Amino acid sequence: MSETTIIDRYGVMGYPVSHSRSPVIHRLFALQTGQEMQYELLQVTPDKLETAVRQFQRTGGKGLNITVPHKNAVARLTDKTSERAATAGAVNTLAFRDGEIYGDNTDGIGLLRDLSVNLGVNLEGANILILGAGGATRGIVGPLLEMSPASLRIANRTPGKAQAIAEHFAQSGPVTACGFNVVPVSEPYDLIINATSAGLQGDAPPYPAAAITDQTYCYDLSYGLTPTPFSVWARDNGAAHSVMGWGMLVEQAAESFRLWRGIRPNTAPVLKQMHINA
Ligand code: ATR
Repeated sequence: MSETTIIDRYGVMGYPVSHSRSPVIHRLFALQTGQEMQYELLQVTPDKLETAVRQFQRTGGKGLNITVPHKNAVARLTDKTSERAATAGAVNTLAFRDGEIYGDNTDGIGLLRDLSVNLGVNLEGANILILGAGGATRGIVGPLLEMSPASLRIANRTPGKAQAIAEHFAQSGPVTACGFNVVPVSEPYDLIINATSAGLQGDAPPYPAAAITDQTYCYDLSYGLTPTPFSVWARDNGAAHSVMGWGMLVEQAAESFRLWRGIRPNTAPVLKQMHINA
């Protein structure tokens, strides 16, 4: 009788998803830590999300990364969620255990680790401006407020969405909201984070240039092989640093890997193998 080894299956589900670097990152993590696992790209349209997740679970899948545009919708399918996923209202990692679906959100911790550990940005007492008020912003506001910034302002093209997030997190710290084009600049910003999806369409919306000083650290949650429109804009307007989100991508992946495999890979060599920073 022949013996079959079943390799633990993981994957990333999104639409579109062909551009995703997650398979490369997780293969490098698996190699580094000696874990036997496979990781697939799964392109799934929003109307097929539930069927695809349940089928992956039914056929023995162990875990999924969830990316655009499913991070909010997939939260409905979980049996349990971590506190940080519940606070964010968005899930980027699923673990299938004992017939249940566990949902987590590792985006916020991924960003914090990149800013604090990899880039040495001090968030305590900082004035922070976030551009955008979608799912990405929901995932990072809570963790950023835990670092005790002096202020955190959310600016969005649609001001009501920024206001709703600010109200949601009002108990957690000094968070305020405003329209995209009326960002107050009386206090210099130490850190400006682009959390809009504008760059994905190649657009450079009217970002508030007066918010940048030569002390400002600019961080784009988006990343690309060539500089993103926001990172070009930041550099052109005299930011002290202009960085794309490669580090956050690798760090959030490491947290997902830890949840699934119980071991945190060393991110530094993997980050080096990606294209880093504009
Ligand atoms: P994600 O999950 O990536 O955050 P999302 O929830 O669809 O995606 O949110 C996209 C964000 O990018 C929103 O803040 C959106 O602004 P609106 O709330 O006004 O729609 C912002 N955004 C997208 N395209 C933009 C553009 N061309 N100019 C300015 N903001 C833009």
